[in-house]
Amino acid sequence: MSGTAARSLVIQNIGELVTNDPSLGDGSALGVTRDAAVVVADGRVAWIGPTGSAPAADDAIDATGAAVLPGFVDSHAHLVFAGDRAAEFAARMAGEPYTGGGIRTTVAATRKASDDALRANVARLRAEALRHGTTTVEIKSGYGLTTVDEVRSLRIAGEVTTETTFLGAHVVPPEYDGRADDYVSLVCGSMLAAAAPHARWIDVFCERGAFDVDQARAVLTAGEAAGLGLRVHANQLSHSGGVQLAVSLGAASADHCTHLTDFDVEALAGSRTVATLLPGAEFSTRSPYPDARRLLDAGVTVALASDCNPGSSYTTSLPFCIALAVREMRMTPAEAVWSATAGGARALRRTDVGHLGLGARADLILLDAPSYLHLAYRPGVGLIRTVLLNGEPR
Ligand code: NIG
Ligand code: FE
Repeated sequence: MSGTAARSLVIQNIGELVTNDPSLGDGSALGVTRDAAVVVADGRVAWIGPTGSAPAADDAIDATGAAVLPGFVDSHAHLVFAGDRAAEFAARMAGEPYTGGGIRTTVAATRKASDDALRANVARLRAEALRHGTTTVEIKSGYGLTTVDEVRSLRIAGEVTTETTFLGAHVVPPEYDGRADDYVSLVCGSMLAAAAPHARWIDVFCERGAFDVDQARAVLTAGEAAGLGLRVHANQLSHSGGVQLAVSLGAASADHCTHLTDFDVEALAGSRTVATLLPGAEFSTRSPYPDARRLLDAGVTVALASDCNPGSSYTTSLPFCIALAVREMRMTPAEAVWSATAGGARALRRTDVGHLGLGARADLILLDAPSYLHLAYRPGVGLIRTVLLNGEPR
C-alpha cells in the first residue's frame, strides 16, 4: 500500500457497537448502538450509522453480527526487561509474600542484556498485547537504573509507542545501598536530563522499600520541571501516601490504589487524577484486590491496565483484567470495559483513542462474540477476532 492513497474500509453487520460516546446509541457511557456499520478512512472513524446505509468503501469486513469495541488502552506496562521470575511466582503461590524485592533480579538481567535482546522482548510482548486487543500501550523504563540503561530502555520503548515513561525511581539499585538520597539526586539530575527527551511521562514507586513521599515528590517535581507528565505507583502494598501526593501534584494517574483511606478516595474523587487499577498484580501476588466499587461510587474515574512485568503481573491481556475486575472488584462488565478503553485514555490524557466517535483513531477490535459482556462472561477464551490499528487490519 505504500505510495498509494490510504484505502477506506467499511465494517458491516456489527451486532453491537461500543463507541464510548454517550451521544451515540443508547445514551449510556458505553454509547452502545446495534445493527451498525463503521467506515474508517485515513486511519480515522469517518462514518457510523445503521448497517446497510453505509457509504461505499474500498474494502469491507463482514462482522456477522458480532460486537465491535474501541481497542484497549493499556496505560501501565513495564515491557523493557530481560529474563523472567517464574520461580519467584511459584514461591509466592507456595506462601511467600510479594515485597518488590525481586525487581533487583530483573535489573541485573536487564543490564546484562543486549539492545537487540531487549528490543526482541518488547516486540514479542507488544505483538502479544495486540493479539489480545490492546491498540495503545504505555511502556515504562525502570529495570535499568543507570543513566545508560534507563535511556536505552526508553529508546527501545519509543520504537513501539509514543507513551513512554521514565521510571528511574523504581527501586534503589544495589550500588546505592544505604545512599538512597544520592540515588534520588542522580535520578532528579543527570539521569532525568538524559531520559527526558525520550519520555512523555515520569513515574515513581512510592512505597516502603522503594521511595518515601518526600523522595517521590522530589522526583516528580523535577520531572515536571523537565516537561514530563506525572504518574505514580501509589498505595500498592501499604498506605504509602502516594495517592495524596499524586493528587496534590495533579498527576494524570495514581496506579494500584490497593490500600486506600476514606481521605484518599475523597481526594481522588475531587481531582483530575485517574485511579488506575491493576488486578493482574493482585492475582499474581495473591493479594486482596482494590475496591473498585468504593472508588466508582465516590465518583472517581477508574482505568484498568495490565501492569505487565515479569514480577508482579506477567500478563498482557486486558480481557483477563476485565474478567478479574468484574468477578473480584465488583465492577459491572460495562464499567470494566469502559475503564480498559476510555479510562485508559483518560489516564494518558488522550482524546483520540479509547472511543469510536467520529474522528477518533480507527483502533478497534472485532470480537468472536455478540456482546462486550462476553469479555467477562467467557474468561480465558480468546475472543479477539480482528484488530484494526490506525485503520489497518492486523
Ligand atoms: O507495578 N510496584 C512496582 N513495580 C511493579 C513490579 C515490578 C516487579 O516486581 O518487577 C508493579 O507491580
Ligand atoms: Fe507497575
